[in-house]
Amino acid sequence: MSSLAAGVTLVQDPGGREAVRLVGKGGSVLIATLGAQVLSWQSPLGEVLWWGSKAEYAPGKPVRGGIPLVFPWFGDHPTDKSQPAHGFARNLVWRVESSGSGPEVTLVATDDAATRAMWPHAFSLRLSVALTDTLRIALTIGNPGAREFTCEEALHTYFALGDVRLATVHGLEGVACTEHAAAPEGPWDQQAPLQFRAETDRIFQGTKDRIELRAPALRRAITLQTTNARSAIVWNPWPAKTARLSGMAADDWTRFCCIESANVRANTIAVAPGQSHTLSLVLSSRAV
Ligand code: BG6
Repeated sequence: MSSLAAGVTLVQDPGGREAVRLVGKGGSVLIATLGAQVLSWQSPLGEVLWWGSKAEYAPGKPVRGGIPLVFPWFGDHPTDKSQPAHGFARNLVWRVESSGSGPEVTLVATDDAATRAMWPHAFSLRLSVALTDTLRIALTIGNPGAREFTCEEALHTYFALGDVRLATVHGLEGVACTEHAAAPEGPWDQQAPLQFRAETDRIFQGTKDRIELRAPALRRAITLQTTNARSAIVWNPWPAKTARLSGMAADDWTRFCCIESANVRANTIAVAPGQSHTLSLVLSSRAV
């Protein structure tokens, strides 16, 4: 990469790993090149993202928090549980390809022998991150190969909430949903804004382009505006699952939820040779 635009610097993350920082009127964003993982968005209203209190910044290991990328499969591999959960994109070292005219950067990753051993396709991934008063993230999946492939994808965003038990999610009312939590709440009102009352692991299909997450404990509302994301996953592990997760303290479940902007399961995407698919997410934060 020849030169970086104003507001873009190469830095290190808290673990000393290579990272990119964007600074602009929307605050400051830190992106690890491992997994092209947005780790932090320090906005004028405070940190929007969340990471585990025992987050490890180890070589080759994605941090539990920020925005890990899910590709090319969501959750466990469909047939081989020895493959990494949520695919391998979050474990790849991405290259900083270019920076735009403002605080904006594009990271890229492509297939190699190791990825082809797990998933037999040529691919190109581009993640563009741009900071204005909003944070815009666009993931483009390209197919430079000769055969069509299908894949799943998600921007697996961890949001800081202050207290998950006070938070509500708006915009998923009436959207078809399946619950995957081991110990979910009893029947809930699918026409009402989502509240967190137990372990929550819901896949919504046929989502609209706008979801709002309200976090009264932080006096903040976050809007997720998406393009080409037909699935959303809302997740909080509650205490029992938290105890089994890496990077988290026992009470960390109280402080976050994930809302994933995605295309999974019935909304798996197909990318024809020479074609690409772009999913984008614009996050904005306002005081309430
Ligand atoms: C969510 C899944 O997408 O990711 C949950 O719906 C899972 O079931 C969570 O526990 C975290 O996954 P991981 O692989 O980062 O621990």
